[in-house]
Amino acid sequence: MSQHELKNPEANQGGVNSMPVSNKQGAKRVFIETYGCQMNVADSELMGGILKKEGFDAATSMEEADVIVVNTCAVREKAEERVFGRLSQLLQYKQTNPNLVLGVAGCMAEHLKGQIVERAPYVDMVIGPDAYRRLPDLIQGQVEEAHDPAIDVRLDKRETYEGLSPDRQEGISGWITVQRGCDKFCTFCIVPFVRGRERGVPPRDILSQARDLAASGFREVTLLGQTVNSYRYEDSDFADLLEALVQIDGLERIRFTSPYPIDFTPKLIETMARHDKICKYLHLPVQSGSEPVLKRMRRGYTRVEYDKLVKDIRAAMPDVALSTDIIVGFPGETEEDFQLTMELMRETRFDFSYLFKYSERSGTFASRKLADDIPEDVKRRRLKEIIELQESISAEVFNSRIGKVYKVMAQGPSKKTDADWCGRTDDFKMTIFPYQEGLREGDMVNVKITRCTSHTLIGEIV
Ligand code: SAH
Ligand code: F3S
Repeated sequence: MSQHELKNPEANQGGVNSMPVSNKQGAKRVFIETYGCQMNVADSELMGGILKKEGFDAATSMEEADVIVVNTCAVREKAEERVFGRLSQLLQYKQTNPNLVLGVAGCMAEHLKGQIVERAPYVDMVIGPDAYRRLPDLIQGQVEEAHDPAIDVRLDKRETYEGLSPDRQEGISGWITVQRGCDKFCTFCIVPFVRGRERGVPPRDILSQARDLAASGFREVTLLGQTVNSYRYEDSDFADLLEALVQIDGLERIRFTSPYPIDFTPKLIETMARHDKICKYLHLPVQSGSEPVLKRMRRGYTRVEYDKLVKDIRAAMPDVALSTDIIVGFPGETEEDFQLTMELMRETRFDFSYLFKYSERSGTFASRKLADDIPEDVKRRRLKEIIELQESISAEVFNSRIGKVYKVMAQGPSKKTDADWCGRTDDFKMTIFPYQEGLREGDMVNVKITRCTSHTLIGEIV
C-alpha cells in the first residue's frame, strides 16, 4: 500500500483490484491482479480484452487459473516491495499446479526488468506496458514448453492500443485511456521511464469506445492520462475531445484524471464550465507549496502560478471540488518549505488529498543528482502533520454539505449493507442513502445530506 493514508477506495492509488478475464470452454484460464493507479485498472481490462480475443478464458479464482498476471506499480518503493511480497505468496499456486504460468506486467516490470526473475526466480514472464499485444504469444510460449522466463519490456512510442476492445468490468462507470506515457520528467518520478513518451490515442478510437460504453449501459466515463490535458492528436486538443464526447447520447457524466497544472488552458476551463456533463471535480497535483522545491522537482510552474490557476478555475466554476497530490521530504525540503506546503493546503482547502513521503526511484534525475537527505523520522512527522491538517479540512468541507441536496448517480449497494445504496455526487463525493423500491444502477437521485464522515456523505432520497 502507498503512504496515502486518506482512504479513498475508488482512487486505487496503490490499491488492488482483481479481474477475471471472461469465460469460454476448454481454453487456458487467466487471472489478472491489479496494483496501482486507474490507468493500471484500465490496462488490465485491455489485457483482458486482448486475451479474450485470442481465445483465453476467465479464471474466477487464482486456484483455477492456468495463468496469473500481476499488473504492478513502480511509483514508490513500497509499491514494489508489496508486489514481491505478493509474488512469494503466489508461489503456493505453483506448488498445487506446477504448470501455472506467473507473469509480472506494468510499471515495475518495465522498471526492474530481469531483476524481477533474479529476486523471484519462479516468475515466468515480465511484460512492460507497451508489450500487451504480444501477451497471448508470450503466454502460449510458456505454456507449450517451460523454458527461461520470457522478458518483453520494449517501449514503443507509437503504441496506443488503437482498435482493441478492453474487457470491461460491468457497471455504470468506465475508463478510457486517452493518452499513454509522459514527457514531463518531474525529477522524482519514474513514470516517463517506465511508460515511455507521451502519445494521444486517436479521437476516432476514443469516441468509438465511448459510444460502445453508452450503448452497453455505461452512464459515466473517466478519461485517463498521466497529464491528460496535454492530450493532442493531430490538430485536436483535450478541450476539443471533451467537446466531442459531450455530444454522445446516454453518457451523462464525463470525468478525467489527472490534469497537469501548466497545461490547463483558459479554453479548457471555459469548456468545462459550459457543459453540465463535465463533472466539476479536478485532481490537480501540486506536490509542494515551496518555490525552490517546485523548481528542484522541475514541475514547470511556480506557487504563484498554481494559486492563480486555482483562482481562475474557481471563478469559472464556483462549486468545483479539488484534490491534489503532495510529496513531503523531497531532497532539501526545509522546515520552512514544508510550512509553505501547509500554508498552501490551508489556503486552497482541497476536498481531499493524496499525501506521500518522498521515495527515491532509481534512474530519475533526483536519484542521480539530489541526495535523499531528509531523515525518515522527519518525513514521517511531516506526513503525519499534513494528513492531520487535510483530515480537519476535509471534515469541514464535508460538514458544510449537511442540509443540502445533491444529485447522485446510484451505483449499487453500499459496502456494508444491501439496505443502503451508494453513488457519487457530480463533484465526486461518495454518498450513502437508504435503498428505495425500483432504484436501478445509473439512476440519478436527489439526496438530502443529513450527516457525514470525513470522506462520505450520508443522506436520504428526496
Ligand atoms: N501524472 C500523474 C502522476 C503519477 S504518480 C498524475 O498526476 O496522476 C502519482 C503521484 O505519486 C504523484 O503525483 C506524486 O505525488 C507521487 N509520486 C510520484 N513519484 C514519487 C516518488 N518518487 N516518491 C513519492 N511520491 C511520488
Ligand atoms: Fe510523473 Fe510528473 Fe509525469 S509526476 S507522471 S513525470 S507529470
